[in-house]
Amino acid sequence: MNLFITCKSGYEKILSREIALYDFITKNSGNGWISIKSVPKSQISGPEDLCFGQIIFKNPIEITAPSSNAFASKLIDLFMDSIQKKILSSSWPFFFSSVNNEKLISRAKTIKTYWNNKLNKKASRVSKLLKNGIPYISKFGEGFFVYLTDFNHGFAALNALSLGQKRMKMCQDAPSRSYLKIEEAYNIIGLEPRKNEKVIDLGAAPGGWTYSALKRGAYVIAVDNGPLNEPIKSHPLVKHIKEDALKFIPPKGLITDWLFCDIIENPDIILNIITKWLKRSWCRNFIVNLKVGRTDPIAILKKIKTPKTGLSSYCSLLKIRQLYHDREEITLAGTSILKRKKNYIYP
Ligand SMILES: C[S@@+](CC[C@H](N)C(=O)[O-])C[C@H]1O[C@@H](n2cnc3c(N)ncnc32)[C@H](O)[C@@H]1O
Repeated sequence: MNLFITCKSGYEKILSREIALYDFITKNSGNGWISIKSVPKSQISGPEDLCFGQIIFKNPIEITAPSSNAFASKLIDLFMDSIQKKILSSSWPFFFSSVNNEKLISRAKTIKTYWNNKLNKKASRVSKLLKNGIPYISKFGEGFFVYLTDFNHGFAALNALSLGQKRMKMCQDAPSRSYLKIEEAYNIIGLEPRKNEKVIDLGAAPGGWTYSALKRGAYVIAVDNGPLNEPIKSHPLVKHIKEDALKFIPPKGLITDWLFCDIIENPDIILNIITKWLKRSWCRNFIVNLKVGRTDPIAILKKIKTPKTGLSSYCSLLKIRQLYHDREEITLAGTSILKRKKNYIYP
Protein backbone atom coordinates (compact mmCIF):
# COMPACT_ATOMS: atom_id res chain seq x y z
CA MET A 1 0.00 0.00 0.00
CA ASN A 2 1.22 3.51 -0.82
CA LEU A 3 0.25 6.79 0.76
CA PHE A 4 0.29 10.43 -0.29
CA ILE A 5 0.24 12.91 2.60
CA THR A 6 -0.10 16.68 2.55
CA CYS A 7 1.34 19.06 5.13
CA LYS A 8 2.07 22.74 5.65
CA SER A 9 4.61 24.06 3.17
CA GLY A 10 8.12 23.71 4.65
CA TYR A 11 7.17 20.83 6.95
CA GLU A 12 7.87 17.97 4.51
CA LYS A 13 11.06 16.83 6.27
CA ILE A 14 9.42 16.93 9.66
CA LEU A 15 6.46 14.94 8.34
CA SER A 16 8.89 12.38 6.87
CA ARG A 17 10.52 12.07 10.27
CA GLU A 18 7.14 11.69 11.94
CA ILE A 19 6.17 8.98 9.48
CA ALA A 20 9.50 7.24 10.13
CA LEU A 21 8.38 6.78 13.74
CA TYR A 22 5.92 4.24 12.30
CA ASP A 23 8.64 2.65 10.09
CA PHE A 24 7.38 4.19 6.85
CA ILE A 25 9.82 5.38 4.24
CA THR A 26 9.36 8.55 2.19
CA LYS A 27 9.59 7.83 -1.52
CA ASN A 28 9.13 11.31 -2.93
CA SER A 29 8.25 14.79 -1.77
CA GLY A 30 7.42 18.27 -3.01
CA ASN A 31 6.19 21.57 -1.65
CA GLY A 32 3.56 20.62 0.95
CA TRP A 33 3.42 16.86 0.34
CA ILE A 34 5.25 13.56 0.66
CA SER A 35 4.55 10.12 -0.77
CA ILE A 36 5.24 6.95 1.15
CA LYS A 37 6.59 3.71 -0.13
CA SER A 38 4.67 0.42 0.01
CA VAL A 39 3.76 -0.30 3.56
CA PRO A 40 2.72 -3.64 4.95
CA LYS A 41 -1.00 -3.63 5.76
CA SER A 42 -0.35 -4.33 9.43
CA GLN A 43 1.39 -0.98 9.83
CA ILE A 44 -1.39 1.17 8.47
CA SER A 45 -2.92 2.20 11.81
CA GLY A 46 -0.30 4.69 13.10
CA PRO A 47 -0.45 7.38 10.40
CA GLU A 48 -4.17 7.81 10.81
CA ASP A 49 -3.31 10.12 13.69
CA LEU A 50 -0.40 12.22 12.44
CA CYS A 51 0.46 15.63 13.86
CA PHE A 52 2.03 17.18 10.76
CA GLY A 53 -0.11 15.45 8.12
CA GLN A 54 -3.32 17.06 6.89
CA ILE A 55 -4.83 14.82 4.23
CA ILE A 56 -3.86 11.23 3.42
CA PHE A 57 -4.62 9.46 0.14
CA LYS A 58 -4.48 5.67 0.10
CA ASN A 59 -2.91 4.14 -3.02
CA PRO A 60 -2.54 7.46 -4.87
CA ILE A 61 -2.52 7.49 -8.64
CA GLU A 62 -0.03 9.92 -10.10
CA ILE A 63 -1.45 12.04 -12.92
CA THR A 64 0.35 14.20 -15.43
CA ALA A 65 -1.45 16.05 -18.20
CA PRO A 66 -0.51 19.06 -20.37
CA SER A 67 -3.72 21.08 -19.83
CA SER A 68 -6.62 21.44 -17.41
CA ASN A 69 -8.97 19.81 -19.87
CA ALA A 70 -6.61 16.85 -20.44
CA PHE A 71 -6.22 16.52 -16.68
CA ALA A 72 -9.99 16.44 -16.22
CA SER A 73 -10.33 13.82 -19.00
CA LYS A 74 -7.85 11.52 -17.26
CA LEU A 75 -9.69 12.02 -14.00
CA ILE A 76 -13.08 11.29 -15.51
CA ASP A 77 -11.79 8.02 -17.00
CA LEU A 78 -10.40 7.06 -13.65
CA PHE A 79 -13.61 7.98 -11.83
CA MET A 80 -15.91 6.17 -14.29
CA ASP A 81 -13.72 3.06 -14.01
CA SER A 82 -13.82 3.21 -10.23
CA ILE A 83 -17.60 3.38 -9.95
CA GLN A 84 -18.32 0.78 -12.63
CA LYS A 85 -19.03 -2.03 -10.18
CA LYS A 86 -20.53 0.16 -7.48
CA ILE A 87 -24.13 1.04 -6.74
CA LEU A 88 -24.04 4.64 -5.64
CA SER A 89 -27.18 5.50 -3.73
CA SER A 90 -26.11 7.88 -1.00
CA SER A 91 -23.83 10.91 -1.14
CA TRP A 92 -20.36 10.45 -2.55
CA PRO A 93 -17.51 12.61 -1.18
CA PHE A 94 -15.26 14.38 -3.62
CA PHE A 95 -12.45 16.82 -3.09
CA PHE A 96 -10.23 18.85 -5.39
CA SER A 97 -7.42 20.79 -3.82
CA SER A 98 -3.82 21.85 -4.33
CA VAL A 99 -0.67 23.06 -2.72
CA ASN A 100 -1.27 26.44 -1.08
CA ASN A 101 -0.41 28.65 -4.04
CA GLU A 102 -2.96 31.00 -5.59
CA LYS A 103 -2.35 29.92 -9.19
CA LEU A 104 -2.51 26.24 -8.35
CA ILE A 105 -5.66 26.71 -6.28
CA SER A 106 -7.26 28.38 -9.28
CA ARG A 107 -5.99 25.58 -11.58
CA ALA A 108 -7.52 22.95 -9.28
CA LYS A 109 -10.86 24.82 -9.43
CA THR A 110 -10.74 24.88 -13.23
CA ILE A 111 -9.99 21.15 -13.42
CA LYS A 112 -12.85 20.50 -10.99
CA THR A 113 -15.25 22.48 -13.18
CA TYR A 114 -14.16 20.59 -16.34
CA TRP A 115 -14.46 17.29 -14.46
CA ASN A 116 -17.93 18.19 -13.16
CA ASN A 117 -19.11 19.15 -16.65
CA LYS A 118 -17.82 15.90 -18.12
CA LEU A 119 -19.45 13.93 -15.33
CA ASN A 120 -22.76 15.69 -15.86
CA LYS A 121 -22.72 14.56 -19.48
CA LYS A 122 -21.66 10.98 -18.75
CA ALA A 123 -23.52 10.24 -15.51
CA SER A 124 -25.77 13.06 -14.35
CA ARG A 125 -27.39 10.86 -11.67
CA VAL A 126 -23.99 10.27 -10.04
CA SER A 127 -23.03 13.93 -10.25
CA LYS A 128 -26.11 14.81 -8.15
CA LEU A 129 -24.78 12.54 -5.37
CA LEU A 130 -21.44 14.33 -5.04
CA LYS A 131 -20.71 16.02 -1.75
CA ASN A 132 -17.73 18.33 -1.44
CA GLY A 133 -15.06 17.56 1.18
CA ILE A 134 -13.35 14.68 2.95
CA PRO A 135 -15.39 13.72 6.01
CA TYR A 136 -13.38 13.91 9.26
CA ILE A 137 -14.09 10.44 10.60
CA SER A 138 -10.67 9.17 11.73
CA LYS A 139 -10.58 6.37 9.14
CA PHE A 140 -10.21 6.14 5.39
CA GLY A 141 -13.42 6.82 3.50
CA GLU A 142 -14.39 6.14 -0.11
CA GLY A 143 -14.90 8.89 -2.65
CA PHE A 144 -12.96 10.69 -5.36
CA PHE A 145 -10.06 12.84 -4.24
CA VAL A 146 -7.63 14.95 -6.24
CA TYR A 147 -4.63 17.02 -5.18
CA LEU A 148 -2.64 19.18 -7.55
CA THR A 149 1.07 19.41 -6.72
CA ASP A 150 2.03 21.40 -9.83
CA PHE A 151 0.36 22.77 -12.97
CA ASN A 152 0.49 19.53 -14.87
CA HIS A 153 0.99 17.11 -12.02
CA GLY A 154 -1.05 15.73 -9.17
CA PHE A 155 -2.45 12.71 -7.39
CA ALA A 156 -5.89 11.15 -7.32
CA ALA A 157 -7.26 8.52 -4.96
CA LEU A 158 -10.44 6.61 -4.20
CA ASN A 159 -9.75 6.44 -0.47
CA ALA A 160 -8.77 9.36 1.71
CA LEU A 161 -8.59 10.49 5.29
CA SER A 162 -8.71 13.99 6.72
CA LEU A 163 -6.82 14.75 9.91
CA GLY A 164 -9.33 17.47 10.67
CA GLN A 165 -7.51 20.77 10.10
CA LYS A 166 -9.86 23.41 8.87
CA ARG A 167 -9.83 27.13 8.12
CA MET A 168 -12.12 28.83 10.64
CA LYS A 169 -14.13 32.00 10.31
CA MET A 170 -12.93 34.99 12.32
CA CYS A 171 -15.41 36.54 14.74
CA GLN A 172 -15.43 40.35 14.67
CA ASP A 173 -15.57 40.73 18.46
CA ALA A 174 -12.77 38.28 19.26
CA PRO A 175 -9.84 40.14 20.86
CA SER A 176 -7.17 38.21 18.92
CA ARG A 177 -6.66 35.91 15.94
CA SER A 178 -5.62 33.15 18.38
CA TYR A 179 -9.38 32.68 18.66
CA LEU A 180 -9.23 30.81 15.33
CA LYS A 181 -6.85 28.20 16.79
CA ILE A 182 -9.03 27.25 19.69
CA GLU A 183 -12.15 27.10 17.52
CA GLU A 184 -10.26 24.74 15.18
CA ALA A 185 -9.05 22.65 18.14
CA TYR A 186 -12.66 22.15 19.35
CA ASN A 187 -13.41 20.75 15.92
CA ILE A 188 -10.48 18.35 16.10
CA ILE A 189 -11.64 16.74 19.37
CA GLY A 190 -15.37 17.18 18.82
CA LEU A 191 -15.73 18.83 22.23
CA GLU A 192 -16.09 22.42 23.40
CA PRO A 193 -16.85 24.24 26.64
CA ARG A 194 -20.52 24.27 27.62
CA LYS A 195 -22.69 26.68 29.56
CA ASN A 196 -21.62 26.99 33.24
CA GLU A 197 -18.44 24.97 32.77
CA LYS A 198 -15.27 26.29 34.39
CA VAL A 199 -12.23 27.23 32.35
CA ILE A 200 -8.73 28.24 33.41
CA ASP A 201 -6.88 30.07 30.67
CA LEU A 202 -3.10 30.30 31.22
CA GLY A 203 -1.57 33.09 29.13
CA ALA A 204 -5.01 34.46 28.32
CA ALA A 205 -4.30 37.98 27.06
CA PRO A 206 -5.48 39.70 24.96
CA GLY A 207 -8.30 37.17 25.22
CA GLY A 208 -9.19 35.22 22.06
CA TRP A 209 -9.35 31.83 23.80
CA THR A 210 -11.19 33.25 26.82
CA TYR A 211 -13.65 34.88 24.42
CA SER A 212 -14.41 31.53 22.74
CA ALA A 213 -15.31 30.01 26.15
CA LEU A 214 -17.40 33.02 27.23
CA LYS A 215 -19.29 32.86 23.96
CA ARG A 216 -20.45 29.41 25.04
CA GLY A 217 -21.53 30.55 28.51
CA ALA A 218 -18.56 29.18 30.48
CA TYR A 219 -16.85 30.85 33.47
CA VAL A 220 -13.20 31.75 32.93
CA ILE A 221 -10.26 32.42 35.23
CA ALA A 222 -7.90 34.25 32.89
CA VAL A 223 -4.30 34.14 34.13
CA ASP A 224 -1.96 36.64 32.52
CA ASN A 225 0.41 39.36 33.63
CA GLY A 226 -0.75 41.43 30.69
CA PRO A 227 -4.05 43.23 30.08
CA LEU A 228 -7.20 41.66 28.64
CA ASN A 229 -8.99 43.52 25.88
CA GLU A 230 -12.66 44.30 25.49
CA PRO A 231 -15.22 42.79 25.20
CA ILE A 232 -13.91 40.31 27.75
CA LYS A 233 -12.09 42.72 30.08
CA SER A 234 -15.31 43.71 31.82
CA HIS A 235 -17.27 40.50 31.16
CA PRO A 236 -19.16 39.29 34.27
CA LEU A 237 -18.08 35.65 33.80
CA VAL A 238 -14.33 36.44 33.74
CA LYS A 239 -11.97 36.73 36.67
CA HIS A 240 -8.58 38.12 35.60
CA ILE A 241 -5.68 37.01 37.76
CA LYS A 242 -2.40 38.83 37.17
CA GLU A 243 0.03 36.13 38.23
CA ASP A 244 2.76 33.97 36.80
CA ALA A 245 0.76 31.42 34.82
CA LEU A 246 3.61 28.91 34.98
CA LYS A 247 3.25 28.75 38.76
CA PHE A 248 -0.52 29.02 38.92
CA ILE A 249 -2.36 26.27 40.76
CA PRO A 250 -6.16 25.98 40.74
CA PRO A 251 -8.26 26.69 43.85
CA LYS A 252 -8.10 23.75 46.28
CA GLY A 253 -10.47 20.92 45.40
CA LEU A 254 -11.35 22.25 41.95
CA ILE A 255 -11.51 19.99 38.93
CA THR A 256 -11.70 22.58 36.22
CA ASP A 257 -13.62 21.52 33.11
CA TRP A 258 -11.10 23.03 30.72
CA LEU A 259 -7.46 24.01 30.96
CA PHE A 260 -6.30 26.31 28.18
CA CYS A 261 -2.62 27.20 27.81
CA ASP A 262 -1.11 29.42 25.13
CA ILE A 263 2.19 30.76 26.44
CA ILE A 264 5.29 31.56 24.40
CA GLU A 265 7.72 29.40 26.32
CA ASN A 266 9.95 26.36 25.82
CA PRO A 267 7.60 23.43 24.99
CA ASP A 268 9.39 21.18 27.50
CA ILE A 269 8.47 23.57 30.31
CA ILE A 270 4.83 23.76 29.15
CA LEU A 271 4.62 19.97 28.76
CA ASN A 272 5.90 19.47 32.31
CA ILE A 273 3.25 21.89 33.62
CA ILE A 274 0.38 20.29 31.70
CA THR A 275 1.51 16.79 32.68
CA LYS A 276 1.41 17.95 36.32
CA TRP A 277 -2.16 19.25 35.82
CA LEU A 278 -3.24 15.90 34.36
CA LYS A 279 -1.40 13.77 36.92
CA ARG A 280 -3.09 15.68 39.74
CA SER A 281 -6.54 15.55 38.08
CA TRP A 282 -6.78 19.34 38.06
CA CYS A 283 -8.67 19.40 34.73
CA ARG A 284 -11.04 17.29 32.65
CA ASN A 285 -10.25 18.61 29.19
CA PHE A 286 -7.39 20.68 27.88
CA ILE A 287 -6.19 22.62 24.87
CA VAL A 288 -2.54 23.58 24.78
CA ASN A 289 -0.52 25.33 22.12
CA LEU A 290 3.20 24.53 21.95
CA LYS A 291 5.63 26.85 20.19
CA VAL A 292 7.94 24.38 18.45
CA GLY A 293 9.83 26.75 16.14
CA ARG A 294 13.06 26.63 18.12
CA THR A 295 12.96 22.97 19.13
CA ASP A 296 12.83 19.58 17.48
CA PRO A 297 9.09 18.87 17.18
CA ILE A 298 9.68 15.14 16.69
CA ALA A 299 11.50 14.97 20.03
CA ILE A 300 8.46 16.72 21.54
CA LEU A 301 6.08 14.16 20.00
CA LYS A 302 8.23 11.34 21.36
CA LYS A 303 8.22 12.91 24.81
CA ILE A 304 4.42 13.25 24.79
CA LYS A 305 3.99 9.62 23.75
CA THR A 306 6.55 8.10 26.13
CA PRO A 307 4.79 5.09 27.71
CA LYS A 308 3.88 5.45 31.40
CA THR A 309 5.38 8.94 31.91
CA GLY A 310 4.47 10.94 28.81
CA LEU A 311 1.49 13.29 28.77
CA SER A 312 -0.46 10.80 26.62
CA SER A 313 -0.43 8.25 29.46
CA TYR A 314 -2.71 10.58 31.47
CA CYS A 315 -5.26 11.01 28.67
CA SER A 316 -8.34 9.10 27.59
CA LEU A 317 -8.38 11.20 24.41
CA LEU A 318 -5.49 13.06 22.86
CA LYS A 319 -5.19 14.70 19.47
CA ILE A 320 -1.92 16.36 18.54
CA ARG A 321 -2.08 18.44 15.39
CA GLN A 322 -0.40 21.21 13.56
CA LEU A 323 -3.59 23.16 12.96
CA TYR A 324 -4.44 25.12 9.83
CA HIS A 325 -4.15 28.26 12.02
CA ASP A 326 -0.91 27.16 13.75
CA ARG A 327 2.34 28.65 12.51
CA GLU A 328 5.53 27.19 14.03
CA GLU A 329 3.30 25.56 16.59
CA ILE A 330 1.40 22.40 17.38
CA THR A 331 -1.78 22.05 19.42
CA LEU A 332 -2.68 19.36 21.92
CA ALA A 333 -6.34 18.78 22.70
CA GLY A 334 -7.73 16.06 24.86
CA THR A 335 -9.43 14.67 27.91
CA SER A 336 -7.69 13.49 31.05
CA ILE A 337 -8.09 10.23 32.88
CA LEU A 338 -9.50 11.63 36.09
CA LYS A 339 -8.32 9.88 39.20
CA ARG A 340 -10.32 12.16 41.47
CA LYS A 341 -14.09 12.61 41.24
CA LYS A 342 -14.76 15.33 43.83
CA ASN A 343 -15.97 18.56 42.33
CA TYR A 344 -15.61 22.09 43.52
CA ILE A 345 -18.30 24.75 43.49
CA TYR A 346 -17.15 28.08 42.18
CA PRO A 347 -17.47 30.92 44.72
C1 LIG B 1 0.27 34.07 22.59
S1 LIG B 1 -0.33 35.09 23.84
C2 LIG B 1 -1.84 34.33 24.25
C3 LIG B 1 -2.94 34.68 23.33
C4 LIG B 1 -4.29 34.26 23.85
N1 LIG B 1 -4.45 32.81 23.88
C5 LIG B 1 -5.43 34.83 23.07
O1 LIG B 1 -6.26 34.08 22.60
O2 LIG B 1 -5.52 36.06 22.94
C6 LIG B 1 0.67 34.65 25.19
C7 LIG B 1 0.32 35.35 26.48
O3 LIG B 1 1.00 34.70 27.52
C8 LIG B 1 1.33 35.66 28.51
N2 LIG B 1 2.42 35.10 29.33
C9 LIG B 1 3.62 34.65 28.93
N3 LIG B 1 4.31 34.15 29.99
C10 LIG B 1 3.51 34.30 31.06
C11 LIG B 1 3.63 33.96 32.43
N4 LIG B 1 4.73 33.36 32.91
N5 LIG B 1 2.60 34.25 33.25
C12 LIG B 1 1.47 34.85 32.80
N6 LIG B 1 1.29 35.18 31.50
C13 LIG B 1 2.29 34.90 30.64
C14 LIG B 1 1.71 36.89 27.73
O4 LIG B 1 1.52 38.03 28.54
C15 LIG B 1 0.73 36.82 26.56
O5 LIG B 1 -0.39 37.61 26.83
